[in-house]
Amino acid sequence: MELKGVILAGGLGTRLHPLTKVTNKHLLPVGRKPMIYYPIEKLTAAGVTEILVVTGLEHMGDVVNLLGSGREFNCKFTYKVQDEAGGIAQALGLAENFAAGSSVAVILGDNIFQADLKPYADAFRKQSEGAKLLLKEVADPERFGVAQVDGDRIVGIEEKPAQPKSNLIVTGVYFYDHRVYEYIKTLKPSGRGEFEITDVNNIYIQKEQLKFEQLSGWWSDAGTFRSLNKVNELVAKEPPQ
Ligand code: G1P
Repeated sequence: MELKGVILAGGLGTRLHPLTKVTNKHLLPVGRKPMIYYPIEKLTAAGVTEILVVTGLEHMGDVVNLLGSGREFNCKFTYKVQDEAGGIAQALGLAENFAAGSSVAVILGDNIFQADLKPYADAFRKQSEGAKLLLKEVADPERFGVAQVDGDRIVGIEEKPAQPKSNLIVTGVYFYDHRVYEYIKTLKPSGRGEFEITDVNNIYIQKEQLKFEQLSGWWSDAGTFRSLNKVNELVAKEPPQ
């Protein structure tokens, strides 16, 4: 199955103000590189060479100046503007024409992790349909989408619950078949006014088409000062790449 890549790098980055006042969160430094280099390198190392980058209009120029055609990364970039910060599912909806019937590996541009993505991508390539999530145990699940797991099945996901039912959270690394766009079109905005990726994942659960694996190694988002610091510390301990 052909697998294309999507990096979602929109949003206002309000939790990182004033660092994100004049630039995009995904261009901020992590270790020796801009944050967005990490998801790009994970995708290309997993054999994904066609990558769509979605970001807001304000900083699209800087993103394109930084990344270019993809030649430097051994991949080909396509760019799409997300007109307003309407959520992850809305941003992913913009990938429909780019995907053109292929499945996609989606990474939120502020998710940094240690493991090689290739084994997970290869397992999904063998899965003929449906979706796949990578879960991780964390100490502060209330900040994320929280999965309730029964054996090898996810039975439900709650977005930022006040009382999490587990400490297994949904990382921002997702695999979807071509049906995801159909499902996105049926969504309604959540309480925070966004089209939620958690609602998309719950549709796959209803259809019994959602698989998961636990992501090995360290993982963190980098959308808050605390998590951005943590990611910088984790990256500093890795051998230089
Ligand atoms: C988003 C998703 C959440 C997921 C998280 C991973 O949260 O809504 O389900 O666990 O990314 O980083 P956000 O960063 O938009 O708060």
